[in-house]
Amino acid sequence: MTMRVAITTGGGDAPGLNAVIRAVVLAGTRRGWSMFGIRRGFAGLLDDAEPTPLPREAVRGITHLGGTILGTTNRGNPFSWPTVRDGVTVETDRSDELLDAFRRHRLDALIVVGGDGTLGIGQRLWEKGMPVIGVPKTIDNDVSGTVVTFGFDTAVTTATEALDKLHPTAEAHDRLFVVEVMGRHAGWIALHSGIAGTADVILIPEIPYDIAKVADKVHEREAAGRNFTIVVVAEGAIPKDGTVTLKEEQRAGQAARLGGVAERIAQELAERTGKETRMLTLGHLQRGGSPTTFDRLLALRFGAAAVRAVAEKRFGQMVALQPPNVVFVPITEALRGSRGVPLDADVLRTARDLGIALGD
Ligand code: F6P
Repeated sequence: MTMRVAITTGGGDAPGLNAVIRAVVLAGTRRGWSMFGIRRGFAGLLDDAEPTPLPREAVRGITHLGGTILGTTNRGNPFSWPTVRDGVTVETDRSDELLDAFRRHRLDALIVVGGDGTLGIGQRLWEKGMPVIGVPKTIDNDVSGTVVTFGFDTAVTTATEALDKLHPTAEAHDRLFVVEVMGRHAGWIALHSGIAGTADVILIPEIPYDIAKVADKVHEREAAGRNFTIVVVAEGAIPKDGTVTLKEEQRAGQAARLGGVAERIAQELAERTGKETRMLTLGHLQRGGSPTTFDRLLALRFGAAAVRAVAEKRFGQMVALQPPNVVFVPITEALRGSRGVPLDADVLRTARDLGIALGD
């Protein structure tokens, strides 16, 4: 009997998701399997919709497209599903319903593409008996168990291009610019784009910053005749003795929305240095656009490997890049917490050697 295998994409999107879907569909159909897509993450198994058949034609010409043809959501946790009862929102466990739907659709395996949140749900479903294979994803590059995730290189490229464009205008006006990039728990995007885009200061969550040290760097540059400064800050950066900056109060069942740290730093630096200061938040631009060649290739490798994992019945495992190869590791590897920038990372040392201030 032919295998019926589904794929779903959950959590925030990342450039390369469509390349994963294409590789999964092509590698599966080559084996004679019937391939399906579950729309909007796990939510697609909890509504009455049928899984979407994904023949080869459905994935033509999508390798280079950002977003995901299956849609996604970061609000679809079946173990704590928001349900309104008597006008009050309560969280209910709908995982049994989800398993029933999976069996009713006669599916043999589910390939779950997501970050630690989505993979955590995948792990719990596997523990309940669903044959799950994981594919790690996030632009933040902070999923444990893999050396890199697809989407990261594209986000870094976007941020670097933005810094390249800001440089001349900052220099022309002798201004101080503070640029906020994504990175909730990890400073990979800030660090890589900041170095490549020749920022003067890079602030990351792993190194709490001292605003006085940042102001010192601005003064030091002025003394050397450099009258403009570019600060790159990860959205999750924290001041010494302070906390992360939130965009809005955290809502039940949702991750806190970070944002605003660049504005805070810009104000403080304007006061401390008297310089004309501007700030810019790159936000979701970093999640959009066509995946870079690196991300496309990694995503295609992950997708093809996920199908090999199904064929080998490696359920409960996920694909991971451990150069030079894509390997299989338990999904629990991804759940060991955010993979931040190690304080002894050579890339951090590179920044220091280049004279870039890190706020410490
Ligand atoms: O985890 C990826 C990420 O892009 C973070 O860098 C950012 O904090 C978050 O997603 C934004 O999520 P949302 O799209 O829900 O605003």
